Amino acid sequence: MNAIGKNILKMRKQLGMTQEELAGRLNVSFQAVSKWENGVSLPDVSTLPLLAKSLGCSIDSLLGYAVEQRIISDYESRYSTDEYYWGVKPSDMCFEVMKLLPPTRALRVLDIGCGEGKDAVFFAKNGYKVSAFDITQSGIDKAKRLAEKHRVNVNFFKADVRDFRLESEFDVLFCSGVLHFIPNELREEIFENYRTHTAEDGVHAMNVFVKKPFIAVPPDKDSRNFNWRSGELFGYYTDWLLHRCDEVIFDCNSGGVPHKHCMDGVIAQRID
Ligand SMILES: C[S@@+](CC[C@H](N)C(=O)[O-])C[C@H]1O[C@@H](n2cnc3c(N)ncnc32)[C@H](O)[C@@H]1O
Repeated sequence: MNAIGKNILKMRKQLGMTQEELAGRLNVSFQAVSKWENGVSLPDVSTLPLLAKSLGCSIDSLLGYAVEQRIISDYESRYSTDEYYWGVKPSDMCFEVMKLLPPTRALRVLDIGCGEGKDAVFFAKNGYKVSAFDITQSGIDKAKRLAEKHRVNVNFFKADVRDFRLESEFDVLFCSGVLHFIPNELREEIFENYRTHTAEDGVHAMNVFVKKPFIAVPPDKDSRNFNWRSGELFGYYTDWLLHRCDEVIFDCNSGGVPHKHCMDGVIAQRID
């Protein structure tokens, strides 16, 4: 289902309106509404103002932009303090990558959704040639300050993982805690782009939150996170060498309410 279809369904239900009632207001058939909600077709652009009015929302929020703005501003404000929200200790995945591909030459690393730059700076300090991007300006600014403090060079830039595509090759693609921002319909294309722009023997180190029926939806989960199926990430690497491919459940206290998350992680290597 696309974002607009999901939003129409959600907002219509919140208002307790039937598909027939919504269709009547828009002068379309209820089958048309059903098709929008199921992602089979999209409403005509000329219908959007009346559709938004009937659902009591803005066109932006119907299209999902209001929500996206909220993700960005949440992270922007988290990163606007002097404290490093995620700390400055590198993720364990960095060490796994280093073991597999030690920096015997200036191997090219891309950190996707780098946040405040702790992992990117770690790789740079260890001799890798690092590029890294995030959607937040405050994250990028802070990451640059961290790199300056450690006197290393990192090519930090602002980009959206949904739009950004690789045009040159990398030896390592690193992505921690970010893939849930990629909607289902873009995944195939994005992973194809990442895979084809990975050097021979190159490595992908990635993780993603996954949905499990026996784990309650986290209290602070919001609709902007796109669900990944358990095992879905591994499916992109069936023809690569899997050095690690696992699923862990861990406790979390974000939002002040103890709950659990399930995360799939993969370290895969392209072998021709
Ligand atoms: C859980 S944090 C992880 C940050 C970093 N990878 C780390 O482990 O410290 C998720 C990051 O994804 C970034 N993000 C969210 N949506 C994004 C998008 N569409 N494109 C790029 N980055 C995005 C956020 O700004 C945030 O820095």
